Formats: sequence, C-alpha cells, structure tokens
Amino acid sequence: MSEPVIKCENVYKIFGANSQKMLQDSNGNVDAKTFQENGCIVGVNNASFEVSKGEMLVVMGLSGSGKSTLLRCISRLTDATGGKIFIEGQDLLQLNNKDLIDLRRNKMGMVFQSFALLPHKTVVENIAFPLQIKGIKTEDSINKAMDMVKLVGLEGRENYFPRELSGGQQQRVGIARSLAVEPDIWFLDEPFSALDPLIRKEMQDEFLRLQDKLQKTIMFITHDFDEALKLADRIAIMKDGIIEQLDTPANIVLNPATEYVRKFTEEVPREKVLLIQDVMDASKDNLGDLQVSKDEIIENVAEKILTQEKSVAVVDNNNEIIGSINPTKIINTVFGGRKNNS
Ligand SMILES: Nc1ncnc2c1ncn2[C@@H]1O[C@H](COP(=O)(O)OP(=O)(O)OP(=O)(O)O)[C@@H](O)[C@H]1O
Ligand SMILES: [Mg+2]
Repeated sequence: MSEPVIKCENVYKIFGANSQKMLQDSNGNVDAKTFQENGCIVGVNNASFEVSKGEMLVVMGLSGSGKSTLLRCISRLTDATGGKIFIEGQDLLQLNNKDLIDLRRNKMGMVFQSFALLPHKTVVENIAFPLQIKGIKTEDSINKAMDMVKLVGLEGRENYFPRELSGGQQQRVGIARSLAVEPDIWFLDEPFSALDPLIRKEMQDEFLRLQDKLQKTIMFITHDFDEALKLADRIAIMKDGIIEQLDTPANIVLNPATEYVRKFTEEVPREKVLLIQDVMDASKDNLGDLQVSKDEIIENVAEKILTQEKSVAVVDNNNEIIGSINPTKIINTVFGGRKNNS
C-alpha cells in the first residue's frame, strides 16, 4: 500500500502555560478534568490515524470537541503540544518556515470556519488573491476566479465587498478561493454551515462530484451527522478531544463504539446509509431468481426484495453469488435498531 498522505501519531494539543510540562508528567494519560483544575484546556487528546490519497475523512463531534484544533495542528496553524504529524512522509513539526510556506501555498488548501476574507478586496479579488501569490498573471487569475464565482453561484456579485454579502455568501467566497488553487490536500472546517438547506445540499452534491473527478485528500469538519454520512469515506467522531471512533459510515451506524457515538446514529435512516453487503447473510442456499448487487444502497432495492418469497442472491462485481438477503432482514434493518422503534 502507498504511504498515507496524512499521518498522526499520538497528537496532543493542550492550551495553558503549563501544558508542556503537564503532558510530560502525565505519561500520555491525559485526563481533561485534572488538566482543567491545573489551568490547562485539552483540545486534542492522543489522536492517531491516517488518511490515504484520495480519501475523504470527515471529522464529526459536538461544539468544543476539538475538531478545529485537530485541523489546525495538521495544517500547523498551531503547534501540537505532543506527538508526530507526517504529511506525505515529511515530519511536519521539523519543517522550516520556507518549506512550511511552500507546503501551504502549493499543496494544502484551507476553508476556515470564520471565512477569513480580506475586507478591502472584492469577491473576485479575494478568490484570485492566492493565485496571484503563486505568481499567476493577474488576467489569468481573474479568469480562473470568475469560473469559481460561477461555480459557487455568486455571479453578479463578483465586485461586492465581503461586508456587502450574507454569511452564506461569504462562506461560498471562502470555498471558491480555496478551490481555485486546486490543492492536493484540502482542509475544510464546517464549509457549509452558514448555508441554507437547499444551497447546502447543492454544494454537497457539487463537492462530491468534484471529489469524484479530482480525488483530493480531504479532511472535512462538520457537526452535522447526515452531512458526514453523505460525504465521508470514513468518519472520525470526537468528544472532549478524543477520537472515540474512526470507521466507515456503515460500521459506525451498525456498530457504534461508545454511547456518545450511538446517540448520533439513533435517528439515522439505516436504509439510506447501509449497503446490501453490510447486512447480507453468508448462506447461498434456497435462493430465488432475483439477484442484487452487494453495492446497492438498501433503500433502492428494498421494495424489490420485500416482494420475494425466497431469499435473494447477492452478487459481486463479477456477478458471482457471494451471499443472500431475505425480506425479514430488510424489515429488521429498516425498522429495528433505531430508538423510537425498539
Ligand atoms: N486558543 C485557544 N486557547 C485556549 N483554549 C482553546 C483555544 N482554541 C480552542 N480552545 C479550546 O479547545 C477546545 C476545542 O475547541 P475547538 O475549537 O477545536 O472545538 P470544535 O470542535 O471545533 O468546536 P465548534 O464545533 O464549536 O467549532 C475547546 O474547549 C476550546 O475552548
Ligand atoms: Mg470548530
């Protein structure tokens, strides 16, 4: 397997004057409460994970759980208090200033929770700015920026200043500015949170379409579990700085590791998330004529399966039968397991 693009090993971020010493004394066993009593706030607590090329890792968790802090450590907007971070095998904390600037300018893209637009530049100037820093000619950068303006639906507002835009519009400028650079590694901190539901759904769809084409390595923060399920290859769920579970959407819904994680999954319509292969049986006996692909989302084939008397064959990409699914299993998946039905 190829080297991970992002790799974190026991990363800690602790705020407070004594943080370094307290972390050392704790031997890696950081208890948030004890630290707080000693004037330290635990932002990230012992995070270890990898993100591979082309993967989208969504970081999920309630407000204050440490999502932004984790991202800020990995983009080195802040220095981790402990642990190691590797970007394409390079030790991030060992980079000198020049290499760090290079990395940020050419490889990493960021969309900030707070938009971070330049107040005295217009929409199109804001979007073109990072391109000009990279040395792209003004005219080319403006043309590219105008493409991005259209992409995020701000045509006609390109000459407005940030203060003349709504929060959602400013957020879209932030997304456009970051997209224009076409970074390989993309960090997005709640990029759609200020958008209304309709535009938000459109941006998610557009984002998935782009990702399908561009295959960036992405860390995406949200506190919306539905958004996480829709976008993620894998989801990391954080609480009090700790990653409580990091897994595929299906595994998180099927096997929540902790009570906190289970709470998020409670209201999720399972048939919209799980695939046939997530719930099929290994048995290949007594099958009817109908076959379904292992990769179908349950919702799309549930009705077909429910009208069958016999078990339905589940096939892989080569049309080989790899298991079966029966109507009872579908009914249990759709109606069982969620709180309001159990
Ligand atoms: N510069 C700082 N100084 C002290 N404490 C901080 C600082 N930045 C963050 N924290 C603390 O670290 C914890 C995690 O904050 P963080 O911003 O990472 O949360 P978050 O998960 O991104 O929340 P939200 O969903 O509200 O954006 C919080 O308790 C916060 O108060
Ligand atoms: Mg945040």
